[in-house]
Amino acid sequence: MTYVSIHDSIAAEGAVYYLFGATGDLARRKLFPALFSLYKEGKLAEDFAVVGLARRPRTDEQFRADIYESIGEFCRYKADEAGQWERFASHFVYMSLDINNVDGFRELARKSVELDAKFNIPGNRLFYLALAPELFGPVSFNLRDGGMLESTGWNRLVIEKPFGYDLESARKLNAQLSQVFKEEEIYRIDHYLGKEMVQNIEVLRFSNAFFEPLWNNQHIANVQISLSETVGVEERGGYYDKSGALRDMVQNHMMQMLAMIAMEPPSRLHPEDIRDEKVKALRSLRPFASAVEVNANVIRGQYSEGESKGKTLAGYRQEDSVNPQSSTETYFAARVYLDNFRWAGVPFYIRTGKRLPVKTTEVVIEFKNVPDNILFAQKHDLAPNLLVIRVNPMEGIYIKINAKKPGVDNVVQPVSMEFCQSCMIGINTPEAYERLIYDAARGESTYFTRWDEVAQAWSFVDRIAEAWREDNGSLQFYPAGSWGPARTDELLAQDGFHWWPVNGQAEDNVIWISGGPK
Ligand code: BG6
Repeated sequence: MTYVSIHDSIAAEGAVYYLFGATGDLARRKLFPALFSLYKEGKLAEDFAVVGLARRPRTDEQFRADIYESIGEFCRYKADEAGQWERFASHFVYMSLDINNVDGFRELARKSVELDAKFNIPGNRLFYLALAPELFGPVSFNLRDGGMLESTGWNRLVIEKPFGYDLESARKLNAQLSQVFKEEEIYRIDHYLGKEMVQNIEVLRFSNAFFEPLWNNQHIANVQISLSETVGVEERGGYYDKSGALRDMVQNHMMQMLAMIAMEPPSRLHPEDIRDEKVKALRSLRPFASAVEVNANVIRGQYSEGESKGKTLAGYRQEDSVNPQSSTETYFAARVYLDNFRWAGVPFYIRTGKRLPVKTTEVVIEFKNVPDNILFAQKHDLAPNLLVIRVNPMEGIYIKINAKKPGVDNVVQPVSMEFCQSCMIGINTPEAYERLIYDAARGESTYFTRWDEVAQAWSFVDRIAEAWREDNGSLQFYPAGSWGPARTDELLAQDGFHWWPVNGQAEDNVIWISGGPK
């Protein structure tokens, strides 16, 4: 695997990008801005074309105007260099397509030959399906039957989550896709894997002499992963009510982060070796054996009406397109274990929720204290060392260690050392989608999820979903704007731990000044 810094500008191979769902939200908010940023940084040379595909009629000019608007609103670069926007826009064309009709795909194949010739593209084709998952199969079949996969270059399929609803539906979907594409041609997006600081977990772990030797159950007391959001379900009530936090965040983003923290060092920095290690980590997750076990280790919450910053927030059941009796979870917390030599006995506490007080993603590694019979531990209430990885919106790392209080004899205080990446002037972190599109165009699959990872994550998650189906009483309500059901704290207290404050939590100062409660 090669690490590409944000200043590297090795252009991806020339290709036509087929963007299904080109008039949708994802394209507007993420994909057009990502393509423009890549262009601006020289990662897309002039030998590319983008075909926007959707049902509604649109001219190329209208399509380009939409893209211009999206870049103005969402891109980290401005389209203000003389002539650059016009050059970029000239690579975009639009075609109205009924994805159920193979004739449209035949026409697309004809158009593709022209585009290859016009932009000097060697027949490489990247199909990006920003579509509902039930359309992945039919579109793949029509790509094949319409002659779209017969060019001389490579074909790659990029798809968004959710990949299925459970293991069974995921298997069916995979079986459909694999009739058309080989596993190595399928790029399953989990946009968390495109985040700089998630990718940094690997670098931190495997390139620092003072982390990896301690990265095990001898020295780590527990791991806490928090993915908290302030937003509710917004206009996605219809989708979310069928999905819930377990399927929307845990099966994918949370499991992927956990795998990155827990995996063994890969033998080579090669995508398959890295993904092999992630699968092994997911396989060692201890499955919940019964509904009772799920209940004892998993908390399932839903926000009720609440308040934030003086504003009243509606309860989940009052949100648009949500069943007023819904028992869908908007909050999930769990204590999980990995049964392998490295992690035996170390609890991983994971939590995610909507309508929590802050938007943040953080990983806290809490180290074990020095032995009790050591002089310093006897005399002082020592706070544990922490390594905190801030994923977003703040990006950085800090460590908390114990040091002597200056000028005072015999007083030990926790101090923190911080590297704040997002505070550094001149760092304009690429959006996850830039990295992912760029990687897919280069055939770099490390940060995409392989089928066996997806299946493994589903089999873990399915047991929880099953237990919840049996036991509807486990749903707990929390006021919107609060930190979720109170039982979440008990989960850690049972083991003698507590959640460390995440960035933006009021008690944050406690860490910096006095080291927080023991
Ligand atoms: C998506 C989920 O995958 O991730 C959303 O479907 C969630 O519900 C989003 O809001 C969070 O992503 P990020 O990058 O804003 O943390």
